[in-house]
Amino acid sequence: MVLLRPPEERDVPALVAMHADERIARFTGVPWPYREIDARAWLAAAPGRRSSGEGADFVIVDRADTELLGTIGLVRVRWEDMAAEAGYSLAAGARGKGYATRAVMLVTDWCFHSLGIRRMEITTHLDNDASQAVAERAGYQREGVLRGYRVLRDRRWDLLMFSRLPGDPPPPGIRGSE
Ligand SMILES: CC(C)(COP(=O)(O)OP(=O)(O)OC[C@H]1O[C@@H](n2cnc3c(N)ncnc32)[C@H](O)[C@@H]1OP(=O)(O)O)[C@@H](O)C(=O)NCCC(=O)NCCS
Repeated sequence: MVLLRPPEERDVPALVAMHADERIARFTGVPWPYREIDARAWLAAAPGRRSSGEGADFVIVDRADTELLGTIGLVRVRWEDMAAEAGYSLAAGARGKGYATRAVMLVTDWCFHSLGIRRMEITTHLDNDASQAVAERAGYQREGVLRGYRVLRDRRWDLLMFSRLPGDPPPPGIRGSE
């Protein structure tokens, strides 16, 4: 249904187009306005982030790899705790189809089974219902509100913390899951 792969030069136009959506700026830390130079900087930084263990960045594409559906990444990796956070966004036209849930499930499985991560986290704004639903469909448990947890665009925000541990019950997942 979806594939995850590292971002490439050919993704730049679709990355710029998807980040024109204000919802992404509102709920994530991506640059705003998001320009070609921002997409290129993200591409250029990705290999170093990955090799240093700081994080991992993927684009979410359709099975034939002809359409960029969104992005997902491992951010704020804390190797000392074997813990990491997943962050994601979909292009507006790719929403409402379960792609983000599937991508989160793939990244979570990769972290548990290939990287040895023992705690996965997702943090969302309190009013980001769509992202909270993604976390819960992907089997993450709602832990509570972290007050004044993160500064985003010069403002300090309360965030909801979700987590998934390797022994948690299987995710409700997506309908027709593959
Ligand atoms: C957060 C975000 C990725 C969620 O996108 P989404 O499309 O709602 O999430 P999914 O891809 O998991 O799709 C779930 C939706 O598809 C529907 N759906 C359709 N077919 C489905 C299927 N086979 N399986 C599961 N869900 C399906 C679900 O019912 C749900 O829609 P609903 O909320 O109206 O019930 C998106 O809103 C976004 O990019 N927001 C801006 C950036 C952002 O907030 N990022 C997260 C920061 S924490």
